[in-house]
Amino acid sequence: MTAERVTLKTMTAEHLSDAVELSRHVGWPHSREDWELMQSLSQGVVVQEEGRVVGTILMTPYGDNAATVNMVIVDAALRGRGLGRRLMEEALAKAGGRACYLVATQEGLPLYEKLGFIATGKIVQHQGLAPSVDAPAHVSWGEPGDHARLVALDRTAFGHDRSALMSSLRERAKFAVVRDQGDVQAFAAIRRFGRGLVIGPVVARKLHEARCLIDFLLANSAGEFVRIDTDETTDLGEWLTRRGLAHVGGGITMRRTAGEPKDETKPHRTYALVSQALR
Ligand SMILES: CC(C)(COP(=O)(O)OP(=O)(O)OC[C@H]1O[C@@H](n2cnc3c(N)ncnc32)[C@H](O)[C@@H]1OP(=O)(O)O)[C@@H](O)C(=O)NCCC(=O)NCCS
Repeated sequence: MTAERVTLKTMTAEHLSDAVELSRHVGWPHSREDWELMQSLSQGVVVQEEGRVVGTILMTPYGDNAATVNMVIVDAALRGRGLGRRLMEEALAKAGGRACYLVATQEGLPLYEKLGFIATGKIVQHQGLAPSVDAPAHVSWGEPGDHARLVALDRTAFGHDRSALMSSLRERAKFAVVRDQGDVQAFAAIRRFGRGLVIGPVVARKLHEARCLIDFLLANSAGEFVRIDTDETTDLGEWLTRRGLAHVGGGITMRRTAGEPKDETKPHRTYALVSQALR
């Protein structure tokens, strides 16, 4: 089968069942609901061969200045024929002038490097059954009126506007918060993802605060399968392992175009990702 016999199309809801299959074939745990969330926030392209989806890509814009490129998959039988590059070129065209971010697998790395992405760091993936821990007393569940504050904190920590993503998470996630004199100062979200639950984003002012938020969510999910993806420089990894969430893999963070210089003075940091796809 040659690459000439395939067609590229805009991804719509009708392609999602095939997309779930394709991601299962590469060993990724995404459910249909996970794909629906990502597709609803993104512009996607599929490669079809005789009506069957054999390739996918999503470009998820965060405002006018940033985007993630994710769910880059080509059916194993059709690899090495330029389809990955064609999908990437489509996604980059959709991203326009936005700085593009992604988390790469080893397999994707050469393709992204050729397209001008540079490696910026590492993500570590931890997962396992949530242990029985004590819920820190100063952490509580968020309230509906907190939403605007959570969007603002996420923006401060991430550096770009993710209000569309945060609105979707409002419908699907539960939020743990730390308040100081009534105002939310840090938060962590937990939602259904893949095989169980995922914790992220976690936005906090310091490592101890991030751990307290995670402990609160673990305490309320004891015995359930939980996953957390974190940048290795957060130093959460060893502690997560001690909590029974084993290091099972990860990815390479990459960026294309200069992006803004990192503001080291800002108090908040993203300690855990929404997911590797969405950052
Ligand atoms: C990553 C993936 C999408 C690439 O798809 P593909 O259709 O094989 O990619 P292409 O044929 O367009 O190859 C892309 C480029 O990478 C190069 N390349 C691929 N593997 C390489 C390797 N091991 N070393 C050096 N270059 C490599 C190719 O030569 C090609 O370069 P060119 O366009 O200059 O000729 C595919 O391998 C895949 O689906 N992998 C599993 C899922 C995955 O890991 N996705 C990435 C998620 S971040």
